[in-house]
Amino acid sequence: MRTTVLIVAAGSGSRLKAGVPKALAPLADGRTLLEHCLESVAAAQAAGVLELNAVAVVLPADPEAAAALEQVCRAAGDRAGFTVRCVPGGAERADSVRAGLAAVRALADAEPAAGADTDAEPGAEPGADDPDTPHAVLVHDAARPFVPVAVFQAVATALGKGAAAVVPAVPVVDTIKTVTGAAPGPEWVSGTLDRAGLRAVQTPQGFDLTALEAAHRRAGSEVPAGAAALTDDAMAMEAAGHPVELVPGDPLGFKITTRLDLMLANALLAPAAAALSPQEQHP
Ligand code: C5P
Repeated sequence: MRTTVLIVAAGSGSRLKAGVPKALAPLADGRTLLEHCLESVAAAQAAGVLELNAVAVVLPADPEAAAALEQVCRAAGDRAGFTVRCVPGGAERADSVRAGLAAVRALADAEPAAGADTDAEPGAEPGADDPDTPHAVLVHDAARPFVPVAVFQAVATALGKGAAAVVPAVPVVDTIKTVTGAAPGPEWVSGTLDRAGLRAVQTPQGFDLTALEAAHRRAGSEVPAGAAALTDDAMAMEAAGHPVELVPGDPLGFKITTRLDLMLANALLAPAAAALSPQEQHP
């Protein structure tokens, strides 16, 4: 299925304290988080698991950071041979996704898939550039630099089989408590969730583009102050009543939020980590 990847990279990274927007934070190899993220998309395309139409990247408002990241996008697109369109983001992640979806729609409508039969006979099956042909969008965090090709593949395969919403997920290892009270006052445990029924979800999350656009419109009008509450895109689809399919995520799909995450990412780039067998890298 024709697919546009939407990378949200407009976060400030205040918890990372890198002194630059998070997507611009360099890893130990000197390459930024966004560069690594784009490289994982390029790897998925090269492996043939994505029928990639283009990549849309949502950038921070800060002009200096945006210019530097645009340069990263251009270079990655040239290397991998895909179109990258950059747009400015919003205050919350959901605002950035909505801004990005407008760019994805324009890219989807403008560009037939590679190999689409533009000379199709009248009355033939609809081609990939037919407006009624389903188009997929994979919404992905720039803050996840190491997502393996297998995760892109699992998401794309489930979409290809007709799912409208697909999220990669991993088991939860901690015991999760619900609480009452709020910091700085004391908090009290009000209950314990059954860990067996919990999953931590990652990105890329895959959707039917038209369904996700409608779900975000609905979530935007029904939850006026709710952009901050919408921490992933599957939530908008859940609220609109769509079933959301889980596929296996991967520990390497972790999100970089804190300095500790950055240290882990840098450790994974070190030669000793590269020498680990896949089994050792996936405990
Ligand atoms: O901060 P959080 O962990 O939710 O960020 C996840 C992803 O969303 C990051 O890649 C970040 O750049 C992006 N984001 C965004 N616009 C925002 C906030 C976060 O594009 N306003």
